[in-house]
Amino acid sequence: MILVVDDDNVIRSSLSLLLKRAGYEAMAVPGADEALDVVRRETPQLILMDMNFSLSTDGRDGLTLLRQVKIFRPDVPVILMTAWGSIQLAVDGIKAGAFDFITKPWNNQALLQRIDTAIQLSSSASRNDNNSDVFDRCGIIGESEQLQEVLSTVKRIAGTDASVLVTGESGTGKELIAEAIHRNSRRRNEAFVKVNLGGISQSLFESEMFGHKKGSFTGAVSDRQGRFELADKGSIFLDEIGDLDKSCQVKLLRVLQDRTYEVLGDSRQRRTDVRVVCATNADLPAMVADGRFREDLFYRINLITLYLPPLRERVDDIPLLVNHFIGTMCKTNGIRPVAVSNEAMQYMKTLPYPGNIRELKNLVERTLLISDGIRITLEDVRASHGSTVSQRTAGAPLSDGMTLDDMERQAIIQAIARYKGNMSQVAVSLGISRGALYRRMEKYGIPSV
Ligand SMILES: Nc1ncnc2c1ncn2[C@@H]1O[C@H](COP(=O)(O)OP(=O)(O)OP(=O)(O)O)[C@@H](O)[C@H]1O
Ligand SMILES: [Mg+2]
Repeated sequence: MILVVDDDNVIRSSLSLLLKRAGYEAMAVPGADEALDVVRRETPQLILMDMNFSLSTDGRDGLTLLRQVKIFRPDVPVILMTAWGSIQLAVDGIKAGAFDFITKPWNNQALLQRIDTAIQLSSSASRNDNNSDVFDRCGIIGESEQLQEVLSTVKRIAGTDASVLVTGESGTGKELIAEAIHRNSRRRNEAFVKVNLGGISQSLFESEMFGHKKGSFTGAVSDRQGRFELADKGSIFLDEIGDLDKSCQVKLLRVLQDRTYEVLGDSRQRRTDVRVVCATNADLPAMVADGRFREDLFYRINLITLYLPPLRERVDDIPLLVNHFIGTMCKTNGIRPVAVSNEAMQYMKTLPYPGNIRELKNLVERTLLISDGIRITLEDVRASHGSTVSQRTAGAPLSDGMTLDDMERQAIIQAIARYKGNMSQVAVSLGISRGALYRRMEKYGIPSV
């Protein structure tokens, strides 16, 4: 099957017709998302890809799609099409792994000939699949289709050095997935360095990331190794990347772009060889759209995007997770495994879990404590879940009918709205740490944005 990617439906249908007449099976899709869906599911013989299929006409979206396709299907030849025939774009495309390049309008015969050549050459090239390697799940529990899809992508991309952006609501397992990428890569025996960018102040960013020399600024009492140096040859996990302010975004872009940096107080350029995995629960495309996140940095970090669906969309995993959490907790406390009644399990499958798997884990922990140690009943779950719900409304009423808890809850909700979900700013404005903020959000059942 030959896959055609072009946003112009006249071109899609005329190319499909041309290909079918020449005896090929053809499938035509309008954009990058659809193309990636096809490529994830099956292996086309060849891909004919328009370079200008989106609003931007500089071909960058085409290049991004090309790189993504090459990661999923390195052996599938790609022929690029552009209406402008710009040489630079052709060069960039070929560098990024395209097989060939044509300009619109095309000559039917010439196009068919090039397609033929590309297919012949690629089918004679030896295929080497190393997907049979053992996959380390890193303790990731769940058999739902949604999770399986994420894991199969992890499997496919772990071995490459492609930068990965892991997205999803709070508590969906982004950090676990980042770790699984590292553990299944050829860098597995090297360092996996985690950095919570939401917890690093702007003034200390360079010192934290790149290190400093003794005396390079007041307070630099000794030399310090930066995270990029610690992660050399391994992977670096940049968590909460959406919290990075713009001045730090530029500094990060530079090291991600050419893998060089300078230690504060030492002008010598250093190189770092790292695989970069980022995570966020912010909506980065929206932040790019309104200018809060650099577009170039966004393209740099998300060659591959892995989206972790919320727990409420993979309820089939809930019983597996519940039993897993009970198992590990009973083991660490040296008690016999506790059973769960059917009704209790059913009930747990219906809860909304704004805090996702982290919330489920907490719920199981609390329920285990109030259970009789033999069996968890529906009442146990109701009681422990209800205790968090009632905490939201408990407390002494104030003159206007609001409790202290209500006011705290209100303040958090307002701050989130005011700072458009930037959790560092929310925490600073409320005068609490991010950890404390998340704990309170969980307590009041405020979903993270
Ligand atoms: N599929 C899973 N199987 C077992 N445990 C899981 C799974 N997913 C998440 N967890 C557990 O849930 C908790 C939250 O996961 P993790 O820290 O990876 O989430 P996150 O998406 O990074 O959250 P946040 O956005 O708040 O940083 C952790 O204790 C983790 O071990
Ligand atoms: Mg996390």
